[in-house]
Amino acid sequence: MSSPRKVIVIGAGPAGYVCAIRLAQLGQEVTVVEKAEVGGTCLNVGCIPSKAMIAAGSLKERIGEASKMGIEVGKASMNVGQLVEWKQGIVGKLTGGVAGLLKNHKCTLLRGDASLVDKNTVLVDGPDGKVTAKADDIVIATGSVPIEIPGFDFDESQVWSSTGALSPERIPDHIVVIGGGYIGLELGFMYSKLGSKVTVLEATSGALPGQDRDCVKIIERSLKKRKIKLMTETFALGYEKKGKKLVVKVKKGDKQETVECDQILSTVGRRPYSGGLGLEKVGLKTDERGFIKVDDQMRTSVPNIYAVGDIAGQPMLAHKGSKEGLVAAGVIAGKPERYDVRCVPAVIFTSPEMASVGETEEQLKERGASYNSGKFPFAASGRAMSLMETEGFVKVLADAETDELLGVHMVGPEVTELIAEAALAIEMGATAEDIGRTIHAHPTLPEAMMEAAEAVHGVAVHIFQKP
Ligand code: NAI
Repeated sequence: MSSPRKVIVIGAGPAGYVCAIRLAQLGQEVTVVEKAEVGGTCLNVGCIPSKAMIAAGSLKERIGEASKMGIEVGKASMNVGQLVEWKQGIVGKLTGGVAGLLKNHKCTLLRGDASLVDKNTVLVDGPDGKVTAKADDIVIATGSVPIEIPGFDFDESQVWSSTGALSPERIPDHIVVIGGGYIGLELGFMYSKLGSKVTVLEATSGALPGQDRDCVKIIERSLKKRKIKLMTETFALGYEKKGKKLVVKVKKGDKQETVECDQILSTVGRRPYSGGLGLEKVGLKTDERGFIKVDDQMRTSVPNIYAVGDIAGQPMLAHKGSKEGLVAAGVIAGKPERYDVRCVPAVIFTSPEMASVGETEEQLKERGASYNSGKFPFAASGRAMSLMETEGFVKVLADAETDELLGVHMVGPEVTELIAEAALAIEMGATAEDIGRTIHAHPTLPEAMMEAAEAVHGVAVHIFQKP
């Protein structure tokens, strides 16, 4: 067996820590450098705490609907301190778990800011001073940070980034959300359920740009139903504090108007983060958007330096970063690994939830692909009815010639879970017929996937399709 390689992983988010653990499993000698908490944005101030708080908002909302099932309860009220403490408890368990895993795998964890000295040396400026560490290979997994727009500097008091929004001291009366993308809508729905009035300002012509428009229509209808105001083609210009109110100045076309609120949340995207890393010391450049260019083995232009996760390009999703981390670890350990995926699923925790994998109809039309589509509404699903969540549908897009699945888009109950089957199907090169012929347990939500696949050929049993 060859001697272990010394590897330094910079950043302990879902790309970096997954890479480090896999490197250790493959017998390498690993040091992880992290300036904040292990777990990165995802575990500390992103995916996990947001999903916890969204679940709390949804439960509060469900309590309000319980009387329909004959359960009489009083009006639910909020203890915000307890909510934040509960959420923080989950974060603590998970970050503690990751730290434990790194330790059990004998990965050395160095606390501090890392910067590159040369292609084999990293300087770590930590609480106990500066140390240098040597490595055969370096993996950059520094992630991304929220984009700030002029006039809305994050003070995490009047203007929240997603971080501030996940540790509130109170539930705002009226929150203005700048940006109707992933974060803006997830947190917009959440605050609406927790009791806030919500206004979303979105620069483009609709919510969730780039997502399947049929699915987005259901989300936009749900926004309306909940009285969440979505102002499209609208830019926020700045704000003023007037007494206890914040007055946001917005521009829609040629017109300017103001929106009064008591909280602003700015979620206009994230940018890759490589500040202070000293990329220039090793001759590494970022592209015009700040990403480090990598090949399909996650190698940068410097052969022993790898980049994984948000810093290595779109989509900025935790699971894509983790996959890249696994690939880089395998490559460093001498395995024939490649980032060779057919699809990356995306999940959005709105109400109803939305999830998609593969190409959208808009993308298929743009590339002139010939495809068939099948759709099954949750309104026809017995399981969805028993859950009292019948909004939405599953849409399957299959190649007209080969019947291979090209894309699956879903909006409705638990679709963030259901999308896993679609991702597996696309990765395995399954056809719509394969999905339709597979027995799906009854009564379950995944039956909607089977029926949508059958609908591709006009033979879904539980909806009427004109011959
Ligand atoms: P985003 O790119 O999803 O949405 C930003 C939105 O802001 C866009 O709709 C854009 O048109 C709009 N916008 C940009 N500038 C604006 C302006 N000046 N005024 C009004 N609107 C403006 O970015 P977001 O929501 O900040 O999320 C960042 C990333 O984090 C996502 O791209 C996603 O990769 C990741 N994420 C993933 C989640 C998940 O997997 N469930 C949840 C939350 C975030």
